[in-house]
Amino acid sequence: MTDELDLLIGKMKTAAAPLRDVLRDLHARYAPVDEGKVADYIPELAKADSRSFGIAIATADGQVFEVGDCKQLFTIQSISKPFVYGLALEDHGLEHVLSKVGVEPTGEAFNAIVLDEASNRPFNPMVNAGAIATADLVKGKDFPERVTRLLAMFGKYCGRDMYIDNSVFMSERMTGHRNRAIGHLMLNFGMVSDKVDESLELYFQQCSVLVNCRDLAIMGATLANGGVNPITKVRAIQQPLVKYLLSVMLSCGMYDYAGEWAYRVGIPSKSGVGGGIVGVIPGHFGIGIFSPPLDAKGNSVRGIRVCTELSERFGLHCFESGFGGKKLQELLAPTRG
Ligand code: DON
Repeated sequence: MTDELDLLIGKMKTAAAPLRDVLRDLHARYAPVDEGKVADYIPELAKADSRSFGIAIATADGQVFEVGDCKQLFTIQSISKPFVYGLALEDHGLEHVLSKVGVEPTGEAFNAIVLDEASNRPFNPMVNAGAIATADLVKGKDFPERVTRLLAMFGKYCGRDMYIDNSVFMSERMTGHRNRAIGHLMLNFGMVSDKVDESLELYFQQCSVLVNCRDLAIMGATLANGGVNPITKVRAIQQPLVKYLLSVMLSCGMYDYAGEWAYRVGIPSKSGVGGGIVGVIPGHFGIGIFSPPLDAKGNSVRGIRVCTELSERFGLHCFESGFGGKKLQELLAPTRG
């Protein structure tokens, strides 16, 4: 019996190797990159190890491929924004959310204190202003219920119970003066409710949710799979809303690098100052990357390199003729028998 089993496992391992080999090769070549700086404007984040590095891919049919530090927990930070945006859309519908948050890229830094002069709205839900206004839209009879709904939503995407890193939350809360200024500027223009201080707390909580690289890949695969978690088969968001999340991720997800990202990489993505990047290849798979050193725009340096190479090598650009991802699918084919 054991021989047959070993043989079978061996066959399976070799069958799944092609993609895993690609990821191992990318990890080996980008791990030595020592550019960028670990975020420190939130003091607790400065404790991150700049050598940490993980790459994961999760397919829309539930396969997961991981190399490097894929189980290491870190805080989700801005990667939380498109998912909370989805919750706000489910809670209030498109038109009400659009009356409070626009969908235009700013070309500015993620924490810029700017609103759209014409409408006084924050430009989009991916920058801090828009994310704070989005958090303000999360329904709940009180703060605990709003936090519970938030964690439940992330739990559907990740397929597990979710927790908040309280030390990062407290660190962000104690240094969150710029975000408070943005919140109260929007209160002045009626873009947020008078419970803005509670919503700022909710925003600090959402940014402090603990994830790992594998989680990010599965969150991406859930969006790639029309809103259903491909492993647990649980629906995390109504299917018709997925396109709105992917649109703002592509146009605004990488901040003042979003234009070049859409041009060169063309993958709806979102980065966070904790060092994570999530990417979505609609209909195919999700990408999760973790590497704390950030460039001047707040995006993971190794994460950008890996996504750029994956996109170029496997034709993942969303406007790639004859839809991209085929080459990578071929790598997956052996595991599908
Ligand atoms: O509000 C902040 O500044 C952080 N909690 C999130 C910013 C962030 O992740 C920007 N992403 N690159």
